[in-house]
Amino acid sequence: MTLLGDKIQEADWKKEKHVPVIECPDAVKKDEFFEINVGLGKAIAHPNTTEHHIRWISLYFHPQDEKFTVDIARFTFNAHGESVKGPDTSTIYTHHQGTTWMKTSKPGTLYAMAYCNIHGLWQSAKEITVT
Ligand code: FE2
Repeated sequence: MTLLGDKIQEADWKKEKHVPVIECPDAVKKDEFFEINVGLGKAIAHPNTTEHHIRWISLYFHPQDEKFTVDIARFTFNAHGESVKGPDTSTIYTHHQGTTWMKTSKPGTLYAMAYCNIHGLWQSAKEITVT
C-alpha cells in the first residue's frame, strides 16, 4: 500500500513552478508574532486559468522534539476566470499567495503544501530558529 505522503511531490522551487515558497525570517523572537508569506511562481510563473490553477496552499508547523504537527493556515484561491459565459471569461482571478502571522516558543519546521488542479500536491519546508 502506498500512502498519501508518498504522492506529495517536491523539487527546487527555482526550477519547478509548483513548489510553494515560504518567506519568513530564518530566526524569530520567542513568543513574538512574525509574518509568513507563502506563494508560488517566484522564479517560474504558474498558470492561473479556469483549466489550470492553484486551488489551495496549506501551512503547517512542526515544533522541534514534539510528536505532532500543527495546522497554521489554509489559503483557498476560488476565482479562476470562470463565469456563466464559460472558462476564462470573467476577468476575475485569485492570485495564489497568502500571508499570515504566528508565534512560537520553540524552533521547528514550517511546511507548505500546494494543490494544482491538474498537477497534484507539492510541498516545501523551512527551518525556523528561536532566539
Ligand atoms: Fe500546474
